[in-house]
Amino acid sequence: MRFTPHILAAACASIVPVHAAAAPHTVGAVVQTLPSDDGLDLRLSSGARVHVGFVTADVVRVRMTPGGRFAPDVSYAIAGTPPTSRATLTTHEASVELRSATGTRVVIGTRPELAISVYDGAGKLVVADDPARPMAFNPVDGTVETSMRRDDYELYYGFGEKTFPLSRHQQTMVMWNSDVPDYPAGHDPSYESIPFFIALHDGKSYGLFFDNTRRSWFDMGKTDPHRYSFGAAGGELDYYVFTGGPARTPAGVLRDYTALTGRGALPPLWALGYQQSRWSYMTQEQVLDVAHEFRRRHIPADVIYLDIDHMDGFRVFTWNPKTFPDPKTMLDRLHDAGFHAVTIVDPGIKFDERYPIYRSGREQGIYVRNADGGELHAKVWPGICAFPDFTSPAARAWFGSLYKAPLDLGVDGFWNDMNEPGVFAPDDFKQPDISLGPHKTFPLDARHAGDGIPGTHAQYHNVYGMQMARASFEGLRNLRPDKRPLVLTRAGFAGVQRYAAVWTGDNSPTWTHLALTIPMLTNLSVSGVPFVGADVGGFMGSPGAELHTRWLQAAALTPYFRTHSNDVSAPREPWAFGAAYERIDRATIELRYRLLPYLYTLFADNEQSGTPPMRPLWFAYPGDARARLVDDQFLAGGDLLVAPVLHEGQTRRDVYFPQGDTWIDWWDGTRHAGGTAAQVAAPLDRLPLFIRAGAGVPVAPVVQNTGEMKNVPLTIAVAAGAGGTSHVFQDAGDGYGYRQGASRTITVTQDAHGVRLEMPPNRGYQRVGAIDIIGLAAAPAGVRIDGEPARDVHFDAATRRLRIALPNENVKRVEF
Ligand code: GLC
Repeated sequence: MRFTPHILAAACASIVPVHAAAAPHTVGAVVQTLPSDDGLDLRLSSGARVHVGFVTADVVRVRMTPGGRFAPDVSYAIAGTPPTSRATLTTHEASVELRSATGTRVVIGTRPELAISVYDGAGKLVVADDPARPMAFNPVDGTVETSMRRDDYELYYGFGEKTFPLSRHQQTMVMWNSDVPDYPAGHDPSYESIPFFIALHDGKSYGLFFDNTRRSWFDMGKTDPHRYSFGAAGGELDYYVFTGGPARTPAGVLRDYTALTGRGALPPLWALGYQQSRWSYMTQEQVLDVAHEFRRRHIPADVIYLDIDHMDGFRVFTWNPKTFPDPKTMLDRLHDAGFHAVTIVDPGIKFDERYPIYRSGREQGIYVRNADGGELHAKVWPGICAFPDFTSPAARAWFGSLYKAPLDLGVDGFWNDMNEPGVFAPDDFKQPDISLGPHKTFPLDARHAGDGIPGTHAQYHNVYGMQMARASFEGLRNLRPDKRPLVLTRAGFAGVQRYAAVWTGDNSPTWTHLALTIPMLTNLSVSGVPFVGADVGGFMGSPGAELHTRWLQAAALTPYFRTHSNDVSAPREPWAFGAAYERIDRATIELRYRLLPYLYTLFADNEQSGTPPMRPLWFAYPGDARARLVDDQFLAGGDLLVAPVLHEGQTRRDVYFPQGDTWIDWWDGTRHAGGTAAQVAAPLDRLPLFIRAGAGVPVAPVVQNTGEMKNVPLTIAVAAGAGGTSHVFQDAGDGYGYRQGASRTITVTQDAHGVRLEMPPNRGYQRVGAIDIIGLAAAPAGVRIDGEPARDVHFDAATRRLRIALPNENVKRVEF
């Protein structure tokens, strides 16, 4: 069968050079089946070959190669080699059925066209090929594509970093990492491409990951609401369907996706503190002044950033001798003041014969090459640059080793930027310089090593940034095996979470961009990337005081919390907006620090389960129809509901409380039933915040930086009224001891009579000093600790909080 090329494939053609657009061929009928342990190998009448198999009992993988030979089974996205799981085979008249150990079934229709359907263990359909648009390939330009049937109300989340509304149904999207400063809402593509989504329909989920690093596209029911399609400008059609297991929950899908593509490693505790950046703090004195000002004004902060101007002529891994003559002393002083320092490291290495790093890279032969074999040169901040080929192990090892010098000086973390890769238009570029265009990255025929599978930039563009982050992460881990690296990256692909935190690039100081942070960050989170944040205040200019204050509040409980602004913006330190705002902004940052033990526990959980710290409501409440499109609230973990003010002048806002739980106002103890909405007070100095009844959330007293946290006692804030169990994870805050058991997990259980505590021995962690009961209507008649009347108890009627001090950590039970 032949059909006209898909509309988006045609759109790709304007950028990916294709020859005369021959019509795609469908793969045709199955002419031969060859059973394998995990499933079936199929030969098709078109000459294509397809493999359908189980990765695990609940994950199905489909591969199609037009030419009849599969490429080596390696993937940048996948951590290690994908496992396989046994399939049982049944052959019918015009179909073959594969069944896994859990009863997940794949039904493969063999004629007139290959048609694959996946059913869950309960017999419910998960995905089915659309017979009107079978799997296809274009023998001339190499594009591949397929289409699935779509139900009217199926919603789609994920896709990495997109500027679209929360659910991406009826959207088309392109995966092609792009440097688009000041991106308007709805602009696509963006810096990060993750071709993975979670579908939600009737409360049930599944996930689909299209593992193809080339320019790819998704049409999620825009062209035809009864189908969605995806494809790529070459390579194999290689995709995974995650049924999510028997429960078909979003968390189950993400657990299985991150089991395959890896989980975000636990960051060092300091990286969860407040981070202050600017392009640029121009001198070492200015850096120290800013740090000093935080301490003088008692505004907590952990990290200060050094943008490109700290370098000598923007040469990476150098210091400007005039403005940063003594970085070592500066870094020592920062450390003495409890700060960590992060420097920017771009991929472009100045083409300069007198620059030893350039020469060393050339001698090692690690730069990206043009099609003609010459060193690829393009312009970025330092002028003409060469670029390490991060798809070469030798280049990664070389680049990773360069971190030794800044580490030895005392730099603590690193920020990889411009790694889409983004480059400037060449001087002789005659066209209008639009923000997105083929001239903004490497030529598509540039050559990459591809870790043993040499290929073009068209093939490896989307993984360039992620492999740079990998070079940084692995270099740092080798150089300092006892420290957890902090790497921040702008570009990435599926699996980037193994190496780096991600921020959403050059956003704008507008209310629209503030509101956009929630759909952007929650969708990145459910794309497997836990450590995400947006520049507070908007990078591309100067926010007013109100916008800045609201933005800081909205970001305070997002995983990565950094203020950053461009070179022409007004100062944006928390004191830059006057005393009244400074007071509010300090309290916002203090809230972050108070809840840090909770956020840290969420990251530890993420490493175990793949469940991200920042969650959209639908993720935790897939059965709640009203939660599915809520894009102006988010969950910080399972226990806190955050409803920031996102509109100018607003001092009240509507909040939806997801069904099945009761929610208690953090500030005044008011209870809200799940499944209801309420208008809540949100004066400028208040971030609307709610705790789930039954939860136990660890809270710390305010400290000025995480280095001070060890010595302050924790309070467990228990939201009264429903049974429930919570955990608090504690360890040294850095290093890998926790993987060898150097940690403890405190269990807090609430029942009808009070709270039970299980505290393993404390090997130097924060001790638990008190319990706060939130949301009590009145002071209880009596409080008992392990059967004895409690001595130190205080009830605050205004906040409906009962504070019970604990005499020691041997307490097992508190009754009230
Ligand atoms: C890019 C980055 C931005 C940085 C600037 C200068 O625009 O996205 O964060 O400040 O480059 O390095």
